[in-house]
Amino acid sequence: SLTSVADIIKGSIPVGEIVAVNGWIRTRRDSKAGISFLAIYDGSCFDPVQAVIENTLENYNDDVSSLTAGCSVRVTGKIVESMGKDQSFELQATKVEVYGFVDEPDTYPMAAKKHSLEYLREVAHLRPRTNIIGAVARIRNTLSQAVHRFYHEQGYIWISTPILTGSDCEGAGEMFRVSTLDMENIPRTDDNKVDYDQDFFGKETFLTVSGQLNAETYACALSKVYTFGPTFRAENSHTTRHLAEFWMVEPEIAFADLSDAATLAEQMLKYVFKAVLEERQDDMAFFAQRVDKECISRLENMIESDFVRMDYTDAIEILKKCGKKFEFPVEWGVDLQSEHERYLAEVHVGGPVILQNYPKDIKAFYMRLNDDGNTVAAMDVLAPGIGEIIGGSQREERLDVLDARMAEMDIDAKDMWWYRDIRRYGTVPHAGFGLGFERLVLYVTGVQNIRDVIPFPRVPRSANF
Ligand code: 4AD
Ligand code: MG
Repeated sequence: SLTSVADIIKGSIPVGEIVAVNGWIRTRRDSKAGISFLAIYDGSCFDPVQAVIENTLENYNDDVSSLTAGCSVRVTGKIVESMGKDQSFELQATKVEVYGFVDEPDTYPMAAKKHSLEYLREVAHLRPRTNIIGAVARIRNTLSQAVHRFYHEQGYIWISTPILTGSDCEGAGEMFRVSTLDMENIPRTDDNKVDYDQDFFGKETFLTVSGQLNAETYACALSKVYTFGPTFRAENSHTTRHLAEFWMVEPEIAFADLSDAATLAEQMLKYVFKAVLEERQDDMAFFAQRVDKECISRLENMIESDFVRMDYTDAIEILKKCGKKFEFPVEWGVDLQSEHERYLAEVHVGGPVILQNYPKDIKAFYMRLNDDGNTVAAMDVLAPGIGEIIGGSQREERLDVLDARMAEMDIDAKDMWWYRDIRRYGTVPHAGFGLGFERLVLYVTGVQNIRDVIPFPRVPRSANF
């Protein structure tokens, strides 16, 4: 019967049983005694299974002898205990069928030698065949499933928020415009503006930067909701932390304040860290060995300890007094740069920190104004090595305060009529946050560049596949 490599590696199949596996050859080694050892992977786990093939096999000379890394095969054989030190079980082959050989094996880009991550980005269609990108894919899957399980167990309803939108949630002017207008012949109004009335939606339309505003409307009816989907930012950032397309997890809770959102963020992170440590021991062991030796202990420590919460105002004092020369000077009112965020998390706290109550002038229109009139009930979760992985807030539920804030920021209340309705009809305090999913994967694995933790990275001047 057909089985997976994972089932053989785990020892789920009794010794002596005859099974078949489908997969690809990672490496091939031949002994002087005329035995071939194929390491076969199928993606179901980190380790390949070893298939032992004697040169007396019927099609040995026709097929087996020309197999190379990357060839796809179906191997049938008996499960036996392995004498090798790398695995407990292996497959004693009785039959090898070839699905596909590799063209010009000498130039196969994924032949077993080590490649740089930079090079692998150039071959995004082949890189899932490598150990590291395969491990990232399984970790992403486990984290995504754990996110859904966490919210499901807590009674949250998963809402699909739109990708196409007319509103700019963050107001940072980083939206991708979507249009069906004829670029060669753009219709104009009398005063020579682009005539969006003639566009598909009859209105200027963008790819969403966040599902939050839509999620708020559902939270204010279903109480506890979340979205988990792709979001888009047209910021021209060439950093190791920014993508033009990334995935975001955004819970939104009614009858809740900033502290409730912070508590939820902490619980969610601990839940998914536990899941990945339990379910992906193989891949985590690889990351600990090859990428970041702290990655397992870091998660274990976080699960055990309470996150530190700190006010922005106190953080500014700490940064001013710490004696470190920053590239961007700090004073109350500045938007923290990643050098500041990392100092706070890495040096001052030595772990993740939840920073709260930021100046209103550096934050979005929807954040709830605090009683001091200068700060808003915002929070960021800052992680060592990365900086911000979560951004959230309590939302402004008071219509008059929201209107004043929108006027101050030149946001047309008419455009936001539906958002204002939520405050007109049975308004409630509510709060939520957004977790950048790829930043979470960076944190879990210790991988340095965000382009290596998403299957097909979208960054300025590269969208090949
Ligand atoms: O802080 P941000 O902009 O917050 C929001 O969009 C809120 N509407 C979320 C909410 O309250 N529901 O983004 C949230 C998170 C950041 O903390 C970061 O982890 C991630 O999204 N993020 C990015 N990740 C990768 N590439 C980018 N360009 C990112 N921009 C933000
Ligand atoms: Mg933010």
